[in-house]
Amino acid sequence: MNQDSLALIKNSIKTIPDYPKPGIMFRDVTSLLESAEAYKATIAILVAHYQSKGFTKVVGTEARGFLFGAPLALELGVGFVPVRKPGKLPRETISQTYELEYGKDTLEIHTDAINANDKVLVIDDLLATGGTIEATVKLIRQLGGEVAHAAFVISLPEIGGEKRLQDLGIEVLSLCEFE
Ligand code: PRP
Ligand code: ADE
Repeated sequence: MNQDSLALIKNSIKTIPDYPKPGIMFRDVTSLLESAEAYKATIAILVAHYQSKGFTKVVGTEARGFLFGAPLALELGVGFVPVRKPGKLPRETISQTYELEYGKDTLEIHTDAINANDKVLVIDDLLATGGTIEATVKLIRQLGGEVAHAAFVISLPEIGGEKRLQDLGIEVLSLCEFE
């Protein structure tokens, strides 16, 4: 991977101390999106890494996973499937509840969005505890989809999400790390 692009991406992410709660160092990906150069470099690195690997769908998690998943799916020439917070998807859904770094939440997916022929790439902006992506992987597998790869712009390795996902058989790619 291009080291200049990786440095550009990391340097474009602002940190907000004590947001949304005291003690949380919030890594704000909106500052990356504000830089056309950094946003473009992010998608280009992901496309180069995942093209020609046979993925049939990209799944992105609400909300910030959409910002990277949709452009990546377009570039890879495959469909994009949103995993959303409860009550947002109009067709039949299945759901999973999970723990966050700061709270608890539930995620849903349309039951007809993934099938047994799908080889799925999961993407989100940030990996912390891995709870969001563990729930997402369970949803995809429950629908019969194959999922063995997850991509993140940011990883917080000290929180342990990477190990949690590896234990689920998921190979993790993250473009930058923060404490
Ligand atoms: C954040 C972030 C990831 C998740 C990472 O989303 O965008 O999706 O937390 O945490 P984890 O690895 O501990 O699960 P959040 O739930 O705040 O939702 P939002 O994107 O809708 O703000
Ligand atoms: N989601 C969970 N932990 C986070 C953090 N430290 N910064 C940004 N988003 C997050």
